[in-house]
Amino acid sequence: MKGTVALVAGGAGHAGSCIAQTLLDRGATVIAPSRSLSRLSALGARLDARGPGELHLVRADLADTAEAESLRDLVLERHGRLDSVIASLGTFEREARIDEMDRATWDRLVFDNLTPHFVVARTFAPVLADSGGVYVTLAGITANEPMTFAAPMSVTGAGLRMLLRVLAAEYAGTAIRCHEVTLLAPILDHWFGFAPQPGWLTADEVGRFVADVLDPGWAHPDRLLLSLPEPDSPRVWRRPTPPRPVEHRTSAARGR
Ligand SMILES: NC(=O)c1ccc[n+]([C@@H]2O[C@H](COP(=O)([O-])OP(=O)(O)OC[C@H]3O[C@@H](n4cnc5c(N)ncnc54)[C@H](OP(=O)(O)O)[C@@H]3O)[C@@H](O)[C@H]2O)c1
Repeated sequence: MKGTVALVAGGAGHAGSCIAQTLLDRGATVIAPSRSLSRLSALGARLDARGPGELHLVRADLADTAEAESLRDLVLERHGRLDSVIASLGTFEREARIDEMDRATWDRLVFDNLTPHFVVARTFAPVLADSGGVYVTLAGITANEPMTFAAPMSVTGAGLRMLLRVLAAEYAGTAIRCHEVTLLAPILDHWFGFAPQPGWLTADEVGRFVADVLDPGWAHPDRLLLSLPEPDSPRVWRRPTPPRPVEHRTSAARGR
């Protein structure tokens, strides 16, 4: 991948950092934006020894159209090209049933899990259409299945998939390739809620899978939806349902 330039949006996050490290190992120039300077310096420290590629850390809020456009202009000015965008963006929360969730939580999670994706797509897809580049979104099992106590995760996962489908349809006939990579198990060493289990994904496995998809000679250029592991694999992980009573109450019983 020497000589290529990749934007890993969410590169300071769990999945994004796994992808960034493999791209660096394969010689790519990697741009990793984050809203947080401290997360950027932690990422820099972690990936410092990786190479032969180059890592560029940039502070940017990708839900903000002006900041995303400045980042695009900076990348093109400094590097003269952009070959791929990996959108590994979002916030995971699993806290409340629909009838217990407050409106502010819903608004925040829907915004956090969809709006940066919309802004990144509208800003960078035209560049990739010109360069014959690859656009990849990351997703989780919540995009495939209704996850209890996490309605915004499943709703935005389904919405993100449709955003990508619309993007691919609008850019049909151009040189851009679009793919969603759905990770159907947690990444080892990066999952803090549960003890690691056999079959979970390794950081290298995630990085190699996505880096292979970016290769111009990749074998399945027309497959929009890709899964790691495959959906019928015994490695697919189903998060246990929290042990909370499911009690159905009417509005009247709740005193409303
Ligand atoms: N981790 C896993 O084990 C796992 C398993 C299955 C699927 N996945 C999928 O992988 C994807 C990423 O998840 P993750 O676990 O890596 O999450 P994460 O660690 O929370 O990382 C998400 C990243 O998104 C970035 N982000 C969010 N909003 C942003 C904005 N407005 N501007 C700039 N950056 C923004 C965050 O950057 P900041 O630094 O600015 O906060 C953060 O680095 C999701 O689609 C998830 O479903 C992950």
